[in-house]
Amino acid sequence: MKVLVVGGGGREHAIVTAVSKSSRVDKIFCAPGNAGIARLAECVDIGVMEFDKLTDFALKEGIDLTIVAPDDPLVAGAVDAFEKKGLRAFGPRSNAAILEGSKAFSKDLMKKYSIPTAAYENFDNADAALKYLETAKMPIVLKADGLALGKGVLICNTLDEAREGVKSIMLDKQFGSAGNRMVIEEFMTGREVSVLSFTDGKTIRPMTSAQDHKRALDGDKGLNTGGMGTFSPSPFYTKEIDEFCMKNIYQPTVDAMAAEGREFKGVIFFGLMLTENGPKVLEYNARFGDPEAQVVLPRMNNDIIDVMEACIDGTLDKVELDFEDNAAVCVVLASNGYPVKYEKGFEIKGLDSFDDKDSYFVFHAGTKLKDGRVVTNGGRVLGVTALGSDLKQARSNAYEAVKWIDFENKYCRSDIGKAIDEA
Ligand code: AMP
Ligand code: GLY
Repeated sequence: MKVLVVGGGGREHAIVTAVSKSSRVDKIFCAPGNAGIARLAECVDIGVMEFDKLTDFALKEGIDLTIVAPDDPLVAGAVDAFEKKGLRAFGPRSNAAILEGSKAFSKDLMKKYSIPTAAYENFDNADAALKYLETAKMPIVLKADGLALGKGVLICNTLDEAREGVKSIMLDKQFGSAGNRMVIEEFMTGREVSVLSFTDGKTIRPMTSAQDHKRALDGDKGLNTGGMGTFSPSPFYTKEIDEFCMKNIYQPTVDAMAAEGREFKGVIFFGLMLTENGPKVLEYNARFGDPEAQVVLPRMNNDIIDVMEACIDGTLDKVELDFEDNAAVCVVLASNGYPVKYEKGFEIKGLDSFDDKDSYFVFHAGTKLKDGRVVTNGGRVLGVTALGSDLKQARSNAYEAVKWIDFENKYCRSDIGKAIDEA
């Protein structure tokens, strides 16, 4: 069969890699793809939001399945656009992707269906939000309602900071129209875990757990980024926690969406905090995480096409997920200065060191081909993933493999997976 993957970052490279292992797939296209993806798929120069061009391409090429990976097109209705033309697409329709597209929606859903999450209030004007802050406990968390490249969350330690935060979100529109509404919520403490899951709208099958490192600098200092590294599984995510989450969070979320007439088919990403009072939902995403996919998918033994088709067809109850009993660590190689200001266009050397190694992967995020050479083309450039028999082995393998790659201004955190030592 012919498969089209929509997207062009490290997550999509991990998805394309998984798809390329399927015995059912003859040809993969990726729109727009990147220099790494181009080794496995034919890259097509169409943007992820160009639904007419994407669907025309799929019709013309006779694509059997399209996988829409990023949040923006999912929320804007990419899957609906494919279905309207009679094409099969994996991912939630826009009425379900709202689970990620609106934080106010997701908070209200959790409240209505008693799914554990931080206490909160929604606001659609700045005056009411500012008034609420007067009596609120600090620290407090401010969230722009809509999509904001993962950056729409402000943690405020003082009332003054919180007032400034409300102004920048709702009045100065720091995150654009994502800040037309906002959520103000209780500050929680605990370890964070990401759990990705497949669902067909009725059955939900969680994948193995992972943990992200969102801050730019070692010791979780510096600015929030799209993610500087991940490890999988999380040693803090025990069987008991998994059982609790299945009963109180995962299945109830799928059932709640169905009850609201918003059947969710695709991947739900649960951002969890393991608090003193049990696991609570920090956020939902309507897609694979980036760079969570880069540590979760290399550990999956299933044929990803079988699982995705079962999600579309409503037969996921017949599928059991199978993950290797090993571990993976992904270290993101970024351009020095990311996420603020950085240079692009430097040649990347050492990529072929990964060619003959089954348990090492170099996933491209911001790269492109220039005169036959691979050059840096973004803040996050590559994700180096290594497998290992356990987390410590995987971490040491990943940091070894980081040395194989060289480009000007290469930067990475040196403490990805440090939490493993505390387990
Ligand atoms: P989100 O995009 O909602 O996952 O938020 C980004 C990050 O902000 C999370 O990964 C947490 O580290 C932090 N965060 C979000 N909500 C809370 C909360 N209620 N309490 C503490 N930290 C939070
Ligand atoms: N790693 C977090 C995300 O994909 O949103």
